[in-house]
Amino acid sequence: MSPRRPTLLALACVAAVASVAVNALSVPFSRVSGASSRSSKDTSSNLFDFQNSNNASSADIYVATLSVAGQDFVIQLDTGSSDLWLDTAGIDLSSLTQTGYETGLSYSDGTVAEGPLYVGNVTFGNFTVNQAFISAPGTNATTNQDRGLLGVGPPLLSTVQSALANTIYNGDTLMNNVLDSDPSLPKFTTFSLSRSFATGKTDGGTFTIGEVNSSFSAITSNPQLDVVSKDRWIVLMDNIIVNGRNVSGGSSFSVSGQSSGQTLACLDTGTTLAQIPRTYADAIYGPVPGSILQESAGIYAVPCDAKINVTFVFAGMEFPVHPIDTVTATTDDNGNIVCYSGFPFSDGSDSSEDFLLGDSFLRNVYSLYDYGSFFNESASPFIQLLATTNADQAYPEFDSLSAQRNQSLLSSRSSSGSSPGGTGSGSSSASPSRTSKLGAMSILLAFGLLII
Ligand SMILES: *[C@@H]1O[C@H](CO)[C@@H](O)[C@H](O)[C@H]1NC(C)=O
Ligand SMILES: *[C@@H]1O[C@H](CO)[C@@H](O)[C@H](O)[C@H]1NC(C)=O
Ligand SMILES: *[C@@H]1O[C@H](CO)[C@@H](O)[C@H](O)[C@H]1NC(C)=O
Ligand SMILES: *[C@@H]1O[C@H](CO)[C@@H](O)[C@H](O)[C@H]1NC(C)=O
Ligand SMILES: *[C@@H]1O[C@H](CO)[C@@H](O)[C@H](O)[C@H]1NC(C)=O
Ligand SMILES: *[C@@H]1O[C@H](CO)[C@@H](O)[C@H](O)[C@H]1NC(C)=O
Ligand SMILES: *[C@@H]1O[C@H](CO)[C@@H](O)[C@H](O)[C@H]1NC(C)=O
Ligand SMILES: *[C@@H]1O[C@H](CO)[C@@H](O)[C@H](O)[C@H]1NC(C)=O
Ligand SMILES: *[C@@H]1O[C@H](CO)[C@@H](O)[C@H](O)[C@H]1NC(C)=O
Repeated sequence: MSPRRPTLLALACVAAVASVAVNALSVPFSRVSGASSRSSKDTSSNLFDFQNSNNASSADIYVATLSVAGQDFVIQLDTGSSDLWLDTAGIDLSSLTQTGYETGLSYSDGTVAEGPLYVGNVTFGNFTVNQAFISAPGTNATTNQDRGLLGVGPPLLSTVQSALANTIYNGDTLMNNVLDSDPSLPKFTTFSLSRSFATGKTDGGTFTIGEVNSSFSAITSNPQLDVVSKDRWIVLMDNIIVNGRNVSGGSSFSVSGQSSGQTLACLDTGTTLAQIPRTYADAIYGPVPGSILQESAGIYAVPCDAKINVTFVFAGMEFPVHPIDTVTATTDDNGNIVCYSGFPFSDGSDSSEDFLLGDSFLRNVYSLYDYGSFFNESASPFIQLLATTNADQAYPEFDSLSAQRNQSLLSSRSSSGSSPGGTGSGSSSASPSRTSKLGAMSILLAFGLLII
């Protein structure tokens, strides 16, 4: 079962779709936070810089827009799932085809996106495709103004595709339909999750289909990491380096090509932070003076000034994490700033990988997901990564970024008059490790004719 859960956003920040190249699609997407959704008109708009709240309903997510039945929907982009679902409450769907089938996804926080499957034109960027999606009016899997989720994971993970298999309807994933609509498009997507150090604000990123952002063209020379799962973006990781010390091994898996010491890492933009094995979290946070293990929550409380070097190593190549991402900050009930592990732990809750690496890692790389044989090609699927964090530059800027982060937490609190991290607790009941939404292997709900 997936530990991920939903998060929310502010409509005001959503970027328009824009195009870049003729045979490609580049969609800028926005980062929005629960705090700014409540106070997005504030002049002190610099709220929740770098913030990944430990309250699911106010965590940061990355969103884009697509349109269905003449309506724009703000949706979360998720590499960790493969379905499109929309909260269609109040939307006239009469121009679409109702298939008579239903399906849904449920998440480990108890939220559910379920309902009838419709097929109709869905426009995403310059593409309009005839697309099946889950109509989930009033779903509690969205929070504030986000209206759905677009999974761009491997097609085999799609519950819609399963539900419509052997019917007259095309249940293919949106990525599949988009790539089919233009066979000349290279079959990959890329993500860059940006963070503006100038303003201290994480303000979005770019999602591309079939195109590499020219700023990051070096990625194509980097090692192609074989995807070792049929339905998830999982690759082999060599080790991590914590303050110069190697940590490796302990994998719960043994897959073809996995050498001694290697672990399985799933890259998931739909996860706000991460879920890593307990032993690795102990290695990162245990030695930090003043750190306090909160075992049931799967986190360490750490001093906000903890400046920890963590580097992830794939195919012998090092991908440093900015120290600001290693420690996440929020406010407690009394408005005090408190800090937690940016890489929470969880053992045994995930049956598909050792490491679930969400945005606290992904902000530090440009990532490319090549579908290969997932989409009718002979080549194997692979992932490429390009480091975008320079460890030697990142380390000295930690203090000023941390001060900025503090400042924005305090100012958002005073401007909103409530605990803007939304977390309320900030105590051991807090569970920042479970901040994100992702459909994936979450429990599939079967209805009617659906057979998984
Ligand atoms: C893509 O859409 C944009 C507007 O969103 C438009 O300006 C551009 O010409 C389109 N490109 C192609 C190749 O259709
Ligand atoms: C969400 O809604 C479903 C019914 O659609 C319900 O079973 C579930 O308890 C709700 N979960 C939460 C967290 O409200
Ligand atoms: C769906 O899109 C296609 C291609 O853009 C168009 O030809 C068709 O008329 C659209 N159908 C509806 C119902 O809008
Ligand atoms: C490429 O990435 C840079 C840096 O994130 C960004 O500013 C730019 O808009 C991106 N360009 C395209 C074409 O996506
Ligand atoms: C962390 O990395 C920085 C930059 O590379 C380095 O200067 C510093 O010594 C490292 N700290 C530790 C404890 O390894
Ligand atoms: C640490 O891991 C690196 C790969 O990241 C490897 O090259 C190096 O030999 C390892 N060092 C030790 C002491 O195990
Ligand atoms: C795979 O490609 C072949 C040949 O182009 C085509 O006939 C078939 O429909 C494709 N299958 C899928 C699942 O796209
Ligand atoms: C940020 O706030 C925390 C908690 O009050 C404090 O311990 C830390 O020193 C502050 N950091 C900076 C750089 O001001
Ligand atoms: C999250 O924060 C909101 C607003 O402060 C609060 O209403 C809600 O109960 C919190 N949820 C959790 C799970 O702590």
